[in-house]
Amino acid sequence: MKYRMPTRVFSESNCIANHSDDIAALGQHAFIVTGHGSAKRNGSLDDMIAVLQENGQSYTIFDEIEENPSVETVMKARESGLRAKADFVIGIGGGSPMDAAKAIALMMNRPESDWQALYTAGGSPALPIIAVPTTCGTGSEVTGVSVLTRYDLKTKLSITHKVFPDLALIDGKYICNAPRRIIVNTAVDALAHLIESCINTQADCFSDMSAFAGLRLWAECRPYIENTVLIDAEAAQKLMNASTLAGMSIAQTGTTIPHALSYMLTYRAGIPHGIAVGAFQANYLDFADNTRRTAVLNAAGFSDTDALRTLIHDLTPMQADRALLEESAESVLRNPAKLKLCPYPIDETIMRKLIEI
Ligand SMILES: [Fe+2]
Repeated sequence: MKYRMPTRVFSESNCIANHSDDIAALGQHAFIVTGHGSAKRNGSLDDMIAVLQENGQSYTIFDEIEENPSVETVMKARESGLRAKADFVIGIGGGSPMDAAKAIALMMNRPESDWQALYTAGGSPALPIIAVPTTCGTGSEVTGVSVLTRYDLKTKLSITHKVFPDLALIDGKYICNAPRRIIVNTAVDALAHLIESCINTQADCFSDMSAFAGLRLWAECRPYIENTVLIDAEAAQKLMNASTLAGMSIAQTGTTIPHALSYMLTYRAGIPHGIAVGAFQANYLDFADNTRRTAVLNAAGFSDTDALRTLIHDLTPMQADRALLEESAESVLRNPAKLKLCPYPIDETIMRKLIEI
């Protein structure tokens, strides 16, 4: 048994302003890593800048993080952060800016190293990191994982290092006006994290603590995810908390087969991450131990895997080329690190059933 959660986590209304002292303690010059626009639109960037100015901390903004950020973008940002002489990094946005912030903070603290240091164990720790999530799905604010696009390998690949943010500041108001497609895709990703953490050889009563709490909270949030009820501030905080609990769960167990199957679909066909991981969840559960499967479905509010399959199909339908699905399946079958996290043996026959969508 093991449990590691080095991130200090705060989830509340006006979270950034409430924790200005914690932000002040992390450094003098912040390197703010974000995407092209959403952090500006949802107010999170302005909230952070206001606190930095009030604290007398200087900052540099790098707003060029693309969806599924590449190693090349990380290296470009590292140069910008070093030129600014930043001594801590703030990732604001969905999984892409937060994952990139971790890799950038790591590389800024090893300025002589080339990109391969991302995939080589050992070396200096990362600069201090603050994560501010503005979607309700990736959980990156509480994991050590940083998934980057590798153009050389034509897929996405986690860096070797575990880089946990020092501080996660979670405020539901940033998703209140998010596009519905972002809420739905990221909420399905959070559900995928919860399911894959439960159906996992690394699951234990510590990881289950957050996973089952997350599944129950996700079930409570379902009317907002299905849009039968309009999202308000309280519901938004709840959705964010379900996502953070999901992140805490996979921080212990890792993700497994559905995530592994998804990466090639996202890289090659541009299928959004939540859609690509959601498509395999019901099939993945079908082969799990009966008692475990029932416990997961009950906690998440589903009568059986067909009910889950139908909801995911309605929320995030996926159309993927058959040849691409089979290629992805073949590559996962050759990935012992992922296969060993699945609690049932996977041969070619079962893999074919997992990709029957
Ligand atoms: Fe995910």
